[in-house]
Amino acid sequence: MYKIKDSSLSDQGRLAYTWAKDHMQILTHSINLLAKSKPLKRITLGFCLQITKETSVLLIGAQELGAKVVACGGNPLTTKDDIAAFLASKGIEIFAWSGQTKSEYDWCQNKVLSCKPDIIIDDGGDLNTKAHFDRKFRSLKIIGATEETTTGITRYRSMQKKGKMRYPIIAVNNAKTKTMFDNKYGTGQSTIDGYLRAVNLLLASKRIVVCGYGWLGKGVAQKCAGMGSKVIVTEVDPIKALEAHMDGFNVMPMSHATKIGDIFITCTGMTDVIQKKHLTCMKSGAIVGNVGHFDVEIDSKFLLNQTVRQVRPNLDECILPNGKKIYLISKGRVANLIASEGHPPEVMALSFSNQLYSILYILKNHKKMQNLVYDVPKQIDSQVAIDALNSMNVKIDTLSKKQIKYQTSW
Ligand SMILES: NC(=O)c1ccc[n+]([C@@H]2O[C@H](COP(=O)([O-])OP(=O)(O)OC[C@H]3O[C@@H](n4cnc5c(N)ncnc54)[C@H](O)[C@@H]3O)[C@@H](O)[C@H]2O)c1
Repeated sequence: MYKIKDSSLSDQGRLAYTWAKDHMQILTHSINLLAKSKPLKRITLGFCLQITKETSVLLIGAQELGAKVVACGGNPLTTKDDIAAFLASKGIEIFAWSGQTKSEYDWCQNKVLSCKPDIIIDDGGDLNTKAHFDRKFRSLKIIGATEETTTGITRYRSMQKKGKMRYPIIAVNNAKTKTMFDNKYGTGQSTIDGYLRAVNLLLASKRIVVCGYGWLGKGVAQKCAGMGSKVIVTEVDPIKALEAHMDGFNVMPMSHATKIGDIFITCTGMTDVIQKKHLTCMKSGAIVGNVGHFDVEIDSKFLLNQTVRQVRPNLDECILPNGKKIYLISKGRVANLIASEGHPPEVMALSFSNQLYSILYILKNHKKMQNLVYDVPKQIDSQVAIDALNSMNVKIDTLSKKQIKYQTSW
C-alpha cells in the first residue's frame, strides 16, 4: 500500500539511494552486522522523516533488519519523488509526495498511524503529537519514539512538563554526534547549496544576516564567512551573542540588521523573527530564507500576499506597497531541503546511526523506561563517534593507566 507522485521515477531513485548508501559507511556497516539476527522482526516502525536519498538508506536498512516500514514525509514540500518511488518499489508502505497541501500532509500521517506502529521515528513532532492528542489514535500501543530535530524536542518538553507524555521519546537530536555535525556542518553546507541553487548570486562581499547562533546558526555563519560574506548575527541569548561576537561576527538587533543586510537566513526554531515591520525596512532587492523547522520564522504570509512573481524555481519576487522588491526563498520553508537536497550523506550517516541504535535501545529497554524525554545513552553517542573515526581511518590516543589514576585522584 502506498501513495506517491510517480512510480516511473523508481530507477532514478535507486541510483540516488546507491549513491547515498556508498557514502554512509558507518550506517551500512551496522546494518550489515545486524542483518542476520533480524532484531526488528515483527516490529512496525512508523517514520515521519524528510524523504531524501539518505533517509532511504535508513528505511531500507530497517527493512533488512526485519521491520515492517511505514513512512510519510516530515514536511509538505521536501519529499524527493524519485526516492518515494524507489521506496514503494521495495515494498515500503510510503505516503509521501512533493508539494502537498496541509490536508494531504495530515492524511499521510493518518495513514502511518493507521498501520499501528510499535515505534515512531519523527522529525519535528507532528506524528508524535498526533499519536498523543488525536482521539482516533489514542488506543495505539506505541512502546517508544525517537526525535530527529530541535523543534520536536521543544514540543515534547512542554508536553512532559504538563504530564502529557504517553510513551518515552529519545531525543536523537541531542546526541553530540548528531547536533555537532548534522545541525552545524550539514545545515551549514546545504544552506549555501540551497541559496546558490535558488539565486545563483555571488556570496563574497554580501552582508548576510544569520538569525540565531545555535547549532544551525554557527554552521551557516561559518560557511558564509568562508565564502567571503560579511556575516551579521542576531540573537536573544546573551551567551550565544557573546560567542558570535568572539567568533568575529558583527552582532546587532534585528531592527538594525534589517537596514543593512543583503541576505537574511533564519535559524532559530522561533516564530516571528522577521516580521512585516522588518521586511518593509529592508533594502530593495534583499533576499530572505529560512532553514528552521517550521515556516513560522519569516512573515511569508505577508510577502506572498503582495504582488508576487516566481522569478526562478524556489524564488519569489514580492513587491511591497512601498515599491521595494523582497525575494523569498522556498516560500519561507526549510530552504536547504527544498531548494537543495538537504544534508550530505556522510553527516546523515551519523544522525541515522543514532536513530538506529536508539530504536534498538527502545526495543530492549522500553519496559524500564518512563514516559519522559530521554537523551541518547552516552555509550551509543561514543560508539557512533568511534565508528565514524574508524570509517575515516582516523586514529586517536587512549588514556594510560597512570593518566586514568591521575584523573580520579584529588
Ligand atoms: N534545516 C535543517 O536541515 C535543520 C536541521 C536541524 C535542525 N533544524 C531546525 O532548525 C531550528 C534551530 O535548530 P538549532 O539546533 O540550531 O537550535 P538551537 O536551540 O541550538 O539554536 C536556536 C538559536 O536561536 C536563538 N533564537 C531564538 N529566538 C530568536 C530570535 N527571535 N532572534 C534571534 N535568535 C533567536 C536561540 O537563542 C538559539 O541560540 C530548529 O527549528 C530545528 O528543528 C533544521
